Amino acid sequence: MLIDTYGRIATDLRVSLTDRCNLRCTYCMPEEGLQWLAKPELLTDDEIVRLVSIAATDLGVTEVRFTGGEPLLRPGLVGIVERCAALDPRPKLSLTTNGIGLARTAKALRTAGLDRVNVSLDTLRPDVFHTLTRRNRHHDVIDGLTAAHEAGLTPVKVNSVLMRDINDDEACDLLGWALQHDYELRFIEQMPLDAQHGWQRRDMVTAAEILERLSARFTLTPEVSSIRGSAPAERWLVDGGPARVGVIASVTRPFCRACDRTRLTADGQVRNCLFAREESDLRTAVRSGASDQHIAELWRAAMWGKKAGSGLDDPAFLQPERPMSAIGG
Ligand code: GTP
Ligand code: 5AD
Ligand code: SF4
Repeated sequence: MLIDTYGRIATDLRVSLTDRCNLRCTYCMPEEGLQWLAKPELLTDDEIVRLVSIAATDLGVTEVRFTGGEPLLRPGLVGIVERCAALDPRPKLSLTTNGIGLARTAKALRTAGLDRVNVSLDTLRPDVFHTLTRRNRHHDVIDGLTAAHEAGLTPVKVNSVLMRDINDDEACDLLGWALQHDYELRFIEQMPLDAQHGWQRRDMVTAAEILERLSARFTLTPEVSSIRGSAPAERWLVDGGPARVGVIASVTRPFCRACDRTRLTADGQVRNCLFAREESDLRTAVRSGASDQHIAELWRAAMWGKKAGSGLDDPAFLQPERPMSAIGG
């Protein structure tokens, strides 16, 4: 079991498969990209499967989410999913992607054992997509979403970050569109995790603002089973349900007290929090022949050191050194 000094138990593992991405979202990374990890630094497919296996069999992890950068850029993804789906006990398997390439791979991923996907899409307007991501790939994302839904990678969730004067006027349109396509939409408050360190609290579109905008067109009722549990998203029924909309308000309504997450970076470091400033190196242990028991022990120790919260409200808050794209969100 991965327990910390506050009694939280991590059962949800996020595995970053690459720090690379084929988009350049302005709130994430600069136009020129970042200094990517070199191939030898990355965990191999075998190393990833071994670590997931230790997490699932020895450490009580029941859900595994593959992230990036953009995880569809990892050549071995389908094989990794297949091998993780063969573990006993079998963890639930999901993927967070920007959707590019999903049209081609959704079926194979489903067959390999992937349960569901979350796709990032901030706008319905191709021109705004281009401004926001610096790439003309809006159609690929839409096609990817359609393919994921058809392949049964459901519920398909869509993640949207709203930015003032760029796409914040689209909140209602995005929700209307998501309802029409049977996607579960979640709006995300922008967090200070951009590589450029340009985040400003006053620029952030808050959960309260998002809800106010949505209320102009929709009737929102807090979900009855509104015990938020460990999920970062708070959810509302839309126009009486059953459709829902979520808001991930990591800044104004943090869910740290219920956090059940542990993270593995693409270069084999355990992070006990998205905002942690320290990491624990599992790659060196793996590559020096450590036993499963020893690796499990290192992982337990890493989680034991988890802080109470993100520290976002602390005036002395410092962004983690790694940007979002190298942590995996
Ligand atoms: P579900 O299991 O489908 O609810 O996935 P999820 O919302 O946990 O994962 P996803 O990868 O779709 O992430 C959505 C947003 O939540 C992203 O902006 C993540 O950075 C953010 N997020 C995920 N985990 C954490 C966390 O532990 N802390 C904070 N503050 N944000 C998180
Ligand atoms: N703040 C909030 N969400 C972010 N994402 C990327 N960068 C940030 C940020 N700084 C979102 C992506 C994707 C998810 C993994 O995280 O849009 O949906
Ligand atoms: Fe790529 Fe995600 Fe960063 Fe956009 S937010 S550049 S999709 S890693």
